[in-house]
Amino acid sequence: MKTYRIAAIPGDGIGAEVIEAGLEILSLCAARSGHFAFDFTHFDWGSDYFKRHGRMMPEDGLDRIRDCDAIYFGAVGAPDVPDHVTLWGLRLAICQPFDQYANVRPTRILPGIEPPLRGVAPDDLDWVIVRENSEGEYAGQGGRSHRGQPEEIATEVAIFTRGGVTRIMRFAFEMARSRPRKLLTVVTKSNAQRHGMVMWDEIAAEVAREFPDVTWDKMLVDAMTIRMTLKPRSLDTIVATNLHADILSDLAAALAGSIGIAPTANLDPERRFPSMFEPIHGSAFDITGKGIANPIASFWSAVMMLDHLGEADAAARLMRAIERVTADPANHTPDLGGTATTRSVTNAVLEALRGDNLAHTAS
Ligand code: NAI
Ligand code: MG
Repeated sequence: MKTYRIAAIPGDGIGAEVIEAGLEILSLCAARSGHFAFDFTHFDWGSDYFKRHGRMMPEDGLDRIRDCDAIYFGAVGAPDVPDHVTLWGLRLAICQPFDQYANVRPTRILPGIEPPLRGVAPDDLDWVIVRENSEGEYAGQGGRSHRGQPEEIATEVAIFTRGGVTRIMRFAFEMARSRPRKLLTVVTKSNAQRHGMVMWDEIAAEVAREFPDVTWDKMLVDAMTIRMTLKPRSLDTIVATNLHADILSDLAAALAGSIGIAPTANLDPERRFPSMFEPIHGSAFDITGKGIANPIASFWSAVMMLDHLGEADAAARLMRAIERVTADPANHTPDLGGTATTRSVTNAVLEALRGDNLAHTAS
């Protein structure tokens, strides 16, 4: 029996609530599979840890998780700790050293979910956003001088490297190729940003030559928001910079019904380091402790983790269970306009998983 070692880092706020639910789901997936198991190790890193120790994770934190097969992450962010401290102290402190350069964000309108846009049918929106996750606007380059003085200056420098752009373009073209429509949209802003974004466009065109079977086009990021909203069907795979994709994927999540559904994978495609799977949403302190956080995003992230581990059957089974559950509005949490709770949705998915497995054995 194969045992996967998973580092569970629930983090702050609803992160803890949805990861706890996700671990229950994953345990059942493993039990039902009959051929693999999980060995979960919990890490209490996050804002509470910061308040006790002055840092978001221990100094040797990365070494403690380096050898795991995957990381299952909740969210970080607390009302009384600056967001750049929590983000850089934990999430980016893992993503960047582990070179998880490909951030993958699938978006679909799941069964039973009413999208906010009039006239959009569920199958009009089926996207994968590939976000450059290691450099660009979030490279951490910059600084502040003359603090508090009238002449204070702050710089925030976006970094684009040929190596970094080439590898994310290749990843995105591969992703597009693996999907039925073989269609890629490269998001850019090369009209206004005439250095890094122009190189981005040039490299996209170069890499495109390696993928003659993929149809691709280029879109300015501002116009992209319009296209996503008005012509969702014209899009399939999307690649964008760290900042652009961060923003566009929140829009995508909203267009698909709720941020409470949207999953993501931070991948090291070369598998030198563990990859990290997490809901897109943050710690949502407005609903923390109320038991109403939608756990679907963390479950869908678990699907992505199973896929990454090579457990495609278990992944497909969990996705089917999720879709069976969302199809019934009784399982919708308040973010979807319903009255379900984290607990009731989790129970429904557990039940659907059990049902699915029985169906499998019977057939
Ligand atoms: P957020 O994603 O935490 O919440 C935005 C809105 O969506 C809130 O009204 C929240 O209640 C709702 N929401 C989010 N997830 C939900 C779920 N699973 N079920 C139901 N409703 C849900 O973003 P916000 O408010 O901008 O940030 C809160 C904190 O989270 C901040 O400290 C921020 O820095 C942090 N954050 C962390 C992220 C991460 O760890 N990857 C990502 C985004 C924000
Ligand atoms: Mg974001």
